[in-house]
Amino acid sequence: MINDLWYKNAVVYCLSVGTFMDSNGDGCGDFEGLTRRLEYLHGLGVTTLWLMPFHPSPRRDDGYDVSDYYNVDPRFGTLGDFVEFTHSAEQLGMRVLMDLVVNHTSDQHAWFQEARKDRNSKYHDWYVWSDKKPPRYADGVVFSGVQKSTWTFDKVARRWYFHRFYEFQPDLNTANPAVQAEILKIMGFWTQMGVSGFRMDAVPFVIGAKGPKVVHPTEKFDMLRQFRELLQWRRGDAIILAEANVLPKTNMAYFGDEGERLHMMFNFPVNQNLFYAMAAGDTRPLAKALESTRERPATSQWGMFLRNHDELDLGRLRPAQRQRVFDAFGPEKDMQLYDRGIRRRLAPMLGGNRRRLELAYSLMLTLPGTPVMRYGDEIGMGDDLNLPERTCARTPMQWSTERQGGFTTSSKPVIPVISGGAYGFEHVNVAAQRRDPDSLLNWMERVIRMRKEVPEIGWGDFKVIPHVEKSVLVIRYEWRGNAVAFVHNFRADPLEIKLDAKSFGRHGGQLVNLLSNAHSRANSKGTHCMLLEPYGYRWFRVGPLDYLLKREEM
Ligand code: NOJ
Repeated sequence: MINDLWYKNAVVYCLSVGTFMDSNGDGCGDFEGLTRRLEYLHGLGVTTLWLMPFHPSPRRDDGYDVSDYYNVDPRFGTLGDFVEFTHSAEQLGMRVLMDLVVNHTSDQHAWFQEARKDRNSKYHDWYVWSDKKPPRYADGVVFSGVQKSTWTFDKVARRWYFHRFYEFQPDLNTANPAVQAEILKIMGFWTQMGVSGFRMDAVPFVIGAKGPKVVHPTEKFDMLRQFRELLQWRRGDAIILAEANVLPKTNMAYFGDEGERLHMMFNFPVNQNLFYAMAAGDTRPLAKALESTRERPATSQWGMFLRNHDELDLGRLRPAQRQRVFDAFGPEKDMQLYDRGIRRRLAPMLGGNRRRLELAYSLMLTLPGTPVMRYGDEIGMGDDLNLPERTCARTPMQWSTERQGGFTTSSKPVIPVISGGAYGFEHVNVAAQRRDPDSLLNWMERVIRMRKEVPEIGWGDFKVIPHVEKSVLVIRYEWRGNAVAFVHNFRADPLEIKLDAKSFGRHGGQLVNLLSNAHSRANSKGTHCMLLEPYGYRWFRVGPLDYLLKREEM
């Protein structure tokens, strides 16, 4: 049963095939290159790979503009290469998730081309049209400052079409049963090719009502149940990890009261408040966000992340809080994006400060959920702000000090490799960090290994332990009679804290450190006195060592 729900104790690593490893020297990463790097990923300890879109596409939105759902972009290889890849991953015990982008297609997709040419074509009703310019044509844009409207006039169809995102991404009419059936077919196809599920793009928009008269789109949640059922029938262990940046009060509608809808969702409220906590040294809003996202069905799970391929979206923070994060991590206009976020990678945001980076990763790994990390963050890769919008944080993986960071032998990589400066491949690369026992990469490997040995985080109940220091987060988990606790200091100064042994529960007088020999024993008054380093963190198992050993023998 425990291992059946594999996603509860997984470590997910997301990557883009085109920027990971180029095997044929054409400048673009491919499935063969990725397959050759599987041992690296296996060694790092990640258990699940999430691949960003790899379908044929004009790639005007990095593949989130799909022109054929049933194929692989020839730049990345063939369907055969894809199956070799999923098979090789499986041989190493790793699972593969892939992006499922079905809110919209590319305007180059054959369906849209048919739809615009002929109103009587069955595909016409696969998209969302209006004869007149909708009065609210500029409402609801997602890429504020870049995207001008959500409706565009199509000269061929002589009608307006709806696009939640860029104008080259016409929305599918997901209320149309034929479109729903096609989505199921796509899911069935790729599970057959070996994937263990999908990171589903833009879920609230997929299930929301669309049309020229829609002001507040109501969601058709039952669609999510249908998706899940298809997966359970076809491949019992496949999951959906949803991108749904929604208010906590609607979480249960997405998961389903009985856990009959989504398996996983990214925890956006915790993500935004985590960055606020790091910027302000104040963990109270983070504790509130943890509380407000506590409720979920037993089989559901949160995805915990720091940075992803998009901007760090701070849209749900209060204006003063958002400003605090901007001031700390993205003060220049050029570092900000879409009036709501920061487009930088994690390491430069944190000034390359190793202690701070460890704090951030330690949190991602120990907050209630399944960690989802991003390629390159394990070595502290940087960004290239000369590149437009979100491309700045999507540069190729830096493998070594060879030309183009060992990513390609071509002199023309798809996206320029970061070279020179503090984050250039000359300094920041896998080969150098492998040789250095104290590198971020080797630290990451150790903590990932330990994280997998602490299933209490993914499975257990958590409690934020209240105490006086607002800059310190103490969180305790309990599962099947075992307890663990984590302490994080968000301040740049060392700090002594006192914690009541009783707050850790039975056996709380002894805390066994999982990462070092700095165990903690309560004093005669029943108090733990801990001296935390700047940005210091502790991972503890609750209970005396001999007690733990006895349990292990059982
Ligand atoms: C969300 C994706 O994460 C983002 O990268 C993309 O641009 C939009 N959806 C549109 O597909």
